[in-house]
Amino acid sequence: MNLGLENRVCAVTGASGGIGFEVTRQLCSAGAKVLMISRDPEQLAAMSEVARAEGGQAGVLVIDITSDHAGEHVIAAAKQEFGQLDVLVNNAGTAKWRDLEEAPEEDFRDQFELSAMAPLNLMRAAIPGMLDRGWGRIVNVSSSAGKRPSSKMPDYSVGKAAMLSLSKLFADEYAERGIMVNAVCPGPTGSELWLEPGGLLDQSKEHSGANTREAARQTVGGKRPIGRMATPEEIASVITFLCSDRASFVSGAAWSVDGGSVPVIL
Ligand SMILES: NC(=O)c1ccc[n+]([C@@H]2O[C@H](COP(=O)([O-])OP(=O)(O)OC[C@H]3O[C@@H](n4cnc5c(N)ncnc54)[C@H](OP(=O)(O)O)[C@@H]3O)[C@@H](O)[C@H]2O)c1
Repeated sequence: MNLGLENRVCAVTGASGGIGFEVTRQLCSAGAKVLMISRDPEQLAAMSEVARAEGGQAGVLVIDITSDHAGEHVIAAAKQEFGQLDVLVNNAGTAKWRDLEEAPEEDFRDQFELSAMAPLNLMRAAIPGMLDRGWGRIVNVSSSAGKRPSSKMPDYSVGKAAMLSLSKLFADEYAERGIMVNAVCPGPTGSELWLEPGGLLDQSKEHSGANTREAARQTVGGKRPIGRMATPEEIASVITFLCSDRASFVSGAAWSVDGGSVPVIL
């Protein structure tokens, strides 16, 4: 299938690992140029080398997307590297596993900054150029926890729900002018966020009392109708489609990619 992404310029936040790196890979293999964004310069440099070694056209921007004027820096970097910006993927995010009563107020604020304010800032910076050209794609990576709050990720759930509202607002405002804004809502996915030492898998293992990491993983996967966690590639495929020309009549969706986790028809 031709996705119509040849030479489109894309910015992907959180591109140095997990889902964001797989999105970068898939966009590159569809012929797009990708500005990879994250905070750790060494990790970002290493992953951009991988993307380039696979034949991708990838540039990098080291930035904390919650910092002041991050949106302007992203646009400036995309223009400097590739001339413009056609596609924005707001993918950067993180989560901790704990009960509601253990989650401090400050973490609710941080999650709101990361999942709502930073994407707002980046969308506002990206949209004028997209409007000039009458074409744009924005994909906001929320979570199944944004649709149905996870009792073990309370601050994260609230931030991701805010992201869904923001995404719908922008979708309604700009669809008629050629910019399709959508969200995706992944379920648990085997990225670094879950699988790195001390990550969500280890945190959930501690809470559940599972004997091994594999048992904890099966417990998490077993709660979904599909019976397992997703791979980053499976989530990235849906994001890449929504970035493409083929998604020309998809606007304001909150697309579940969760193996059936959220038990509503939405
Ligand atoms: N994995 C899941 O089960 C799952 C499920 C539902 C939704 N999601 C969502 O999917 C997205 C990607 O998750 P993932 O699983 O791929 O996570 P991951 O493997 O931990 O990768 C997160 C990426 O975000 C970057 N990042 C984090 N905070 C940032 C900041 N303030 N500014 C710039 N970059 C930042 C990280 O790099 P640096 O740390 O170097 O900045 C990294 O590149 C997140 O929004 C997550 O909430 C994941």
